[in-house]
Amino acid sequence: MKKMFLTGVLALAVAIAMPALAAAPKAPADGLKMDKTKQPVVFNHSTHKAVKCGECHHPVNGKEDYQKCATAGCHDSMDKKDKSAKGYYHAMHDKGTKFKSCVGCHLETAGADAAKKKELTGCKGSKCHS
Ligand code: HEC
Ligand code: HEC
Repeated sequence: MKKMFLTGVLALAVAIAMPALAAAPKAPADGLKMDKTKQPVVFNHSTHKAVKCGECHHPVNGKEDYQKCATAGCHDSMDKKDKSAKGYYHAMHDKGTKFKSCVGCHLETAGADAAKKKELTGCKGSKCHS
């Protein structure tokens, strides 16, 4: 009886997990152009394998969100000075954002390594902006 109950629970767990797994998209190929700002960035998923999808595709209404960053209603303000969550520049560059920004994480990644800091957080001549 107990075994039957456990099998039932397991089957239910699988049934619930399946659609969630099916819904997770595949990361697209490298070379994604982020060209909303004056200084475009080429983003590669392959160099960010160690980062959880949901750190960047952070939850919106409780679910990881795979829409483009600048989708209407998201980070759709292109005013560099807009420090609200809508600000695209703010979301990509600033420290202390609700979810880690590109530069926010790159600063932590570089730590005290000055060369790496230039490479990952520099405005010009960096790996982000050439
Ligand atoms: C370090 C940050 C980061 C991580 C980690 C990350 N992504 Fe992305 N992803 C991006 C960025 C940036 C884009 C480009 C968004 C844009 O064009 O506005 C993107 C785009 C995408 C897109 C295409 C969206 C579209 O409509 O064009 C999909 C799908 C996606 N990622 C899935 C994933 C999956 C699955 C994972 C985990 C295996 C993942 N990503 C991990 C940053 C990340
Ligand atoms: C949670 C941490 C984290 C976040 C968030 C993150 N990165 Fe990175 N990024 C890394 C790490 C780690 C590396 C590899 C650093 C190294 O060279 O050791 C990296 C490397 C890069 C590189 C150089 C390698 C390459 O593929 O050309 C670029 C460009 C880059 N990131 C762009 C971005 C952009 C754009 C975003 C925001 C949309 C972003 N990253 C968000 C951790 C992060």
